[in-house]
Amino acid sequence: MNAQGLMDTAKMLVADDKGLLAIDESNATCNTRFARLGIPQTEETRRAWRELILTTPGLGECVSGLILYDETIRQTKKDGMPFAKIITDAGIIPGVKVDTGAKDMAGHPGEKITEGLDGLRDRLTEYFQMGARFAKWRAVIAVGDGIPSRGCIEANAHALARYAALCQEAGLVPVVEPEVLMDGAHSLKRCFEVTEEVLQAVFSQLHTQRVSLEGVILKPNMVLAGLTSSRQETVEEVADATVTCLLRAVPAAVPGIAFLSGGQSGELASARLNAMNVRFKARAPWALAFSFARAIQQPALEIWQGEEARVLAAQRALYQRARCNRAARRGEYDAAMERI
Ligand code: 13P
Repeated sequence: MNAQGLMDTAKMLVADDKGLLAIDESNATCNTRFARLGIPQTEETRRAWRELILTTPGLGECVSGLILYDETIRQTKKDGMPFAKIITDAGIIPGVKVDTGAKDMAGHPGEKITEGLDGLRDRLTEYFQMGARFAKWRAVIAVGDGIPSRGCIEANAHALARYAALCQEAGLVPVVEPEVLMDGAHSLKRCFEVTEEVLQAVFSQLHTQRVSLEGVILKPNMVLAGLTSSRQETVEEVADATVTCLLRAVPAAVPGIAFLSGGQSGELASARLNAMNVRFKARAPWALAFSFARAIQQPALEIWQGEEARVLAAQRALYQRARCNRAARRGEYDAAMERI
C-alpha cells in the first residue's frame, strides 16, 4: 500500500469544492428507474445513459470523481473509447462500486447485510488495472421498531472495514458508505442516535482492521427525520444536527465527508449541504462534500427519456445540478440558481 498515494487521491476527491457523482446503480436499480419513465431496460440504454452523463460538457468543473458499476466500467463510448479513459481525460477520477448488494440478514428480520468480500482482492486488482482509483461499498441500516440491532450494525461495520483494508492494499481509496435509511416515520433525534452509533462502530472497525483514515472518504446519510414523519426540521436544523453528529463520531484524520442524497430532492440536498458549509466550513476538520446519484441525475433522466434528440437538454440539466452542488460546497448556493 502506498499511503501517500491514497492520501493524495482522497484529498483530490474533495479538492476545489467539487464532489462525487454516483452512476453506479446495479442493473436492477437502473432498470427500475428506466421503467418508471418508460425507457427500455437494455444494456445499450444503460450504456447510452452513462455515456450522456460522462460526456456532459464542463462536468469536470464540478465533479472530482465518478462512481461506476461493474458493467459500466467495462463499457465504451459509441466510438469504442473506454469510459474510464474518457473520464480520466475529462480530469475526473474513475471509481467503482464493489459490493454485490445488501441481502436479507439471517436471524435479523427487516435488516440487511452487504455482501461482496469473497474474491474482492482479485476484483480490486482488475479494477485498478482498468483505471479505477477509488471504490465504494454501501451498507444499509434500516430504522424501525427494535432495529437496527447491534448484530446488524457490527456485521456491516466489520464488512466495511474489511473492504476498506483490501481497497487500500490494492491502491484504491475506499469510499465507506454506512447509510441509515430515510424510510419510516422516525424522528430526527432517532436518526441522530442511530447514525452516531453506526459511525462509532464503523470507525472502531476501521481502526481494528488497520485502515489508514487519511486515505478514506466517508459517505454518510444526512441526519434527517424519516420520510413519513409529520415533523420535518428546517434546512438549518438538519445542517446543525448532521455536523454535530459527525463531529462526535468521525476522526479529524478523515479528509472528506461526501454525503449520499438518499431520496431527498435535488434542491433540498443542495440546500442542506449549503447550510452545513455556511455554518461549519471554516471550522470542520474535514471537507463537507457530496456523492449524490439521484439528486444530480434525476432531472436529467426525466428530460432524456431515452431519446437521442434530448441528450443536450439532459446534459444541461445534469450540469446545472452538479453546478448547484459545487456552489453548496462553497456555501454560495441559492434557490434562485435553480431557475438559471
Ligand atoms: P443517492 O444519492 O441516490 O442516495 O445515491 C448515492 C449512492 O451512491 C447510494 O449508494
